[in-house]
Amino acid sequence: MAIVYDKEKSFFSIETQNTKYVFQVVEEEFLVHLYYGDKRGEVPEHKSKIVDFAPYYEKSRFNFLPDAYMQEYVGFDSGDLRTCSLRVKNADGNAVTVLKYRGYQVLEGRINLQGLPYAEGNETTETLEITLVDEHTKLEVKIYYTVFAKEDVISRYVRVTNYGEEAVTIEKCMSLLLDLPKDNYDMISFYGRNNRERQYQRNPLFVGQHNVYSRRGASSHEFNPFVILCDRETTQTEGDAYGFNFVFSGNFLDEVEVDALGKTRVQIGLGSENFNWLLEAGESFVSPEAVMSYSSEGLGKMTRNFHTFIREHILPEEPFTNRPVVLNTWEACFFDIDEDVMEKFAKAAAESGIDMLVMDDGWFGARNNDKAGLGDWYPNPNKFKNGLKSFVDKMKSYGLKFGIWVEPEMVNPDSDLYRTHPEWCIECPGREKMLSRDQWVLDMSNPEVIAYLKDMFTKTFAGIEIDYFKWDMNRHLCQVGSNYLPKERQGETAYRHILGVYELLEWFHKQFPNAMIETCSGGGGRYDLGMMKYGTMIWTSDMTDPHRRIRIQYSSMMGYPASTMSCHVSDHKACEDARELKYRCEVALGGALGYELHLPKSSEAMKERVKAQIASYRKYEDLILRGEYYSILNPYETNYSAYYYTNEDKDRILLSFLQDAPEERKEVVLSVIEAIESALYVDEISGKKFTGKELREGITVQSDDSSNNSRMWYLVKTHE
Ligand code: GLA
Repeated sequence: MAIVYDKEKSFFSIETQNTKYVFQVVEEEFLVHLYYGDKRGEVPEHKSKIVDFAPYYEKSRFNFLPDAYMQEYVGFDSGDLRTCSLRVKNADGNAVTVLKYRGYQVLEGRINLQGLPYAEGNETTETLEITLVDEHTKLEVKIYYTVFAKEDVISRYVRVTNYGEEAVTIEKCMSLLLDLPKDNYDMISFYGRNNRERQYQRNPLFVGQHNVYSRRGASSHEFNPFVILCDRETTQTEGDAYGFNFVFSGNFLDEVEVDALGKTRVQIGLGSENFNWLLEAGESFVSPEAVMSYSSEGLGKMTRNFHTFIREHILPEEPFTNRPVVLNTWEACFFDIDEDVMEKFAKAAAESGIDMLVMDDGWFGARNNDKAGLGDWYPNPNKFKNGLKSFVDKMKSYGLKFGIWVEPEMVNPDSDLYRTHPEWCIECPGREKMLSRDQWVLDMSNPEVIAYLKDMFTKTFAGIEIDYFKWDMNRHLCQVGSNYLPKERQGETAYRHILGVYELLEWFHKQFPNAMIETCSGGGGRYDLGMMKYGTMIWTSDMTDPHRRIRIQYSSMMGYPASTMSCHVSDHKACEDARELKYRCEVALGGALGYELHLPKSSEAMKERVKAQIASYRKYEDLILRGEYYSILNPYETNYSAYYYTNEDKDRILLSFLQDAPEERKEVVLSVIEAIESALYVDEISGKKFTGKELREGITVQSDDSSNNSRMWYLVKTHE
């Protein structure tokens, strides 16, 4: 049993394979958080204390000072003057929300979140439901803890129900609150922009707020919802690490507040700036799910917890036995595609051992550049004279799978769709709509918009076997309003918009059950667990320069498995150089390998090299896509990235070394601590043999003054 209630002590205890989470009901009404950490750790007792200026109720006095204790979920202005989890404007006109404990239930499995992405349960999943009530407003809040014991992950979300007689407005709703007993953690977060997503930063926390957020209608390039708190000394292999993430793709707030009493509060949820929700009497609101994982064995273990968790509980089942290696046309052609151009790509792709050709932007409507066509999802008749079906059949006659680019959430002013339905855009009445990449955002909260898109895609792809959709989203939301929603619900637009996006993604899965979805948002601008519920992988970044990529991939791997990272070898001119091609490929082998080269213009020698790369990838792709990941060198702290993937038995290891900038020659030691000490391994790339002991002590590699120095070792246990 992962969840235990000790009646005598009024303790709730949630156990996973290596962790324990404990809280207590104090004075029969209040939840006090006691412990989240190593399973073997001692749970501190709840002690009453006196803290000046901290408000208390007469009855509980110093046994419960909301402002001074660690809590589980906190209403606004409830005597806890730190940041709150839930703020609801009530019928009195104020937003005071005082939540008191009323009872619990342990449920087998989990409750599925209608219309939202969530982590799937299995036979071992259990859920703790705690009921809290604000007696004055008759607001009920159920908080949920779902336990994924094997992966050391606990998820949280809430359900808010208005049992009062009048409507109320939810102004802030967080899904997860965790109070930690110290004030000296480091925080690791991932910031960025287009072409520079998920840049790693590690900073010591100090008293005050340290927030990570998006107000852009998408989880965004600017911050990723994934954050880590760890001890100052925590490394990849040692020390405490707490990771947090949000299963959502829209606006979010990761709030970290260090108080002057020595504690740290972490919250993840919808935040308040771009969200409010009108809750009529009798209605409920369910928040998206947030997840957390603790490791006492450093950052590496926490990373692997999330990798397994995401693979087992978030990602969709893959439609193909082997993940296809794709050739995408974007960087080679941009919008200049038509049937003849594509045929040249198909021929060259087939000759180079590619599995799937992906036709990127430019195939539909009047889409000859980014100024027109979005919304008109029918093939451009000038480019595909015999229609899409005959074209796709031709592509497939080369023995290839076929993928296609779509950007359903958007519309260009210059499009039939906009001309017919100008009222379908996100906009605020009376204001000029702002453009970004010459496009506007469709109001996906409007069911008519969703119905139009479903109808259009059904017609366009009827009878055509599409194997893969690249689902893009190339601008952010601003001046958010909906012509569909009533005035009092305008604050719900951004949230309902994402629910519409999820509905359409879900529909794509049902409508095209054999197709795989790669999601994208100007590269990796929606690299989140919400998107991962629908898309097998994400276009990691539009930045395909291998040096920049090394960093983006390193940070992405801290929270997300390699299988989600779509990585393409690009720039056919540069890649004519064999060493450069090798370097770019070895960078791309950090995740799911693909190409973005102009193969029809490439030399025969280069196509042969690509073919050989794909053949090698086939030998160890399972390690990359499903193996355990160990980072050795951090490219933000050194001039290198080094890591390995291995299997559970540790009898196959794929080790990578990537030097970033040129430097004077020196020796770099890479220790593979997971190698079996007593075993002998052969590197199938060089033929050299290493004992496990040697690997653990470290392989030595030379750095040099070139800009494309990389090495890989595919180490397989041998008996000779
Ligand atoms: C975005 C994507 C690119 C490409 C273009 C097409 O920028 O990230 O990979 O698909 O859109 O317009």
